[in-house]
Amino acid sequence: MSNLHINGTERHLNILAPIFLMCRPDYYDPRIEKHQKPGHPAPNRFISGNDFDPGLAVDQWNALKEKLESLGAQVILVDPVEGLVDQVFTADSSVSLMTLPPDNANAVKAPPIFHTLYSRFKHAARTPELQAQMCALESLKSDLEKTHLNGSRPTFMLGRNIQNFEGGDNLYDPYRDMFWSGYGDDENIDTCRSSIGSHGLLKEFMEVKVQGIEVANGFYHLDTSLAPLPGGHMICYPGGMNRKSFESVQKAAENETIILVHEEDAQKFGCNVITVDRHNIVMPLCSDNLRREIESHDYAVHMVDVGEFIKSGGGPHCLTNRVNQPRTPGGLRKFPNFYDMLRYQR
Ligand code: ARG
Repeated sequence: MSNLHINGTERHLNILAPIFLMCRPDYYDPRIEKHQKPGHPAPNRFISGNDFDPGLAVDQWNALKEKLESLGAQVILVDPVEGLVDQVFTADSSVSLMTLPPDNANAVKAPPIFHTLYSRFKHAARTPELQAQMCALESLKSDLEKTHLNGSRPTFMLGRNIQNFEGGDNLYDPYRDMFWSGYGDDENIDTCRSSIGSHGLLKEFMEVKVQGIEVANGFYHLDTSLAPLPGGHMICYPGGMNRKSFESVQKAAENETIILVHEEDAQKFGCNVITVDRHNIVMPLCSDNLRREIESHDYAVHMVDVGEFIKSGGGPHCLTNRVNQPRTPGGLRKFPNFYDMLRYQR
């Protein structure tokens, strides 16, 4: 149980407050030569980093962690493993949900059910990241098992996808109670990381609707072009997906608004946001226009500089993995105050 470090000390977790997995950037390295070694690794068009500043990366990572903690989130650390230059992107190793059925009296009565589906990386070089993530999640699980909610213990369901499946491609939409899941041509190394065949298992395992989105060349993970927000809004860069897929986003959005991201902000990872709770959004440095647009829908925007991580193609969403993403069947559309109910149960 040694690798459960919560802010450096042992403490009990609040099962209903946001919990994120993060991995210190001890071995993070975006430089091209690291990514060209035989067998390594996950190429994408951002890999550059010849002016990489490791000290600055540590400062940016710490600032992101502190920002999340200042917003009431709890951060669990995954042990960094030497040689794993992309391990800092914990979003990719697994996808989790915490399901809580509210009763008619608007109270959460049943204990939570946790589902975690581990990934199958397209690039074998990232596969060893899974081991460390599994250790951290095991420790978390044993801690959460001690947490009772209304006198009952949580249940844990673990699975592993057998098709290419990376966390950054699978975005839970809490408003519509569904996943938006990226896929593309499996043969094309630049296009996508997850295969459409992985969606069936996700759907079956989580018992949640899955809508596939075919990602466009260069937008290797769906979290580079889409972010479903709890109020039903969707931050979206249409150029990151094919036209039909964008139409399915438009269709689902109905009266909710699509927050359109322009090319320049998409390059700055403007879609790669962390939804901390119903109102707080953590995002990278982008234009004032995008910030104002998101704020106009009653979200509080917190911008963080993650420039050193963009050099390897990752932003705030990629650097975190929400392990207790609250889900209720029917979503926030059906239970608009579901998140408030969670707060009262603490
Ligand atoms: N260099 C990493 C890769 O290409 C970046 C991963 C970013 N993760 C994400 N969820 N977008 O795999």
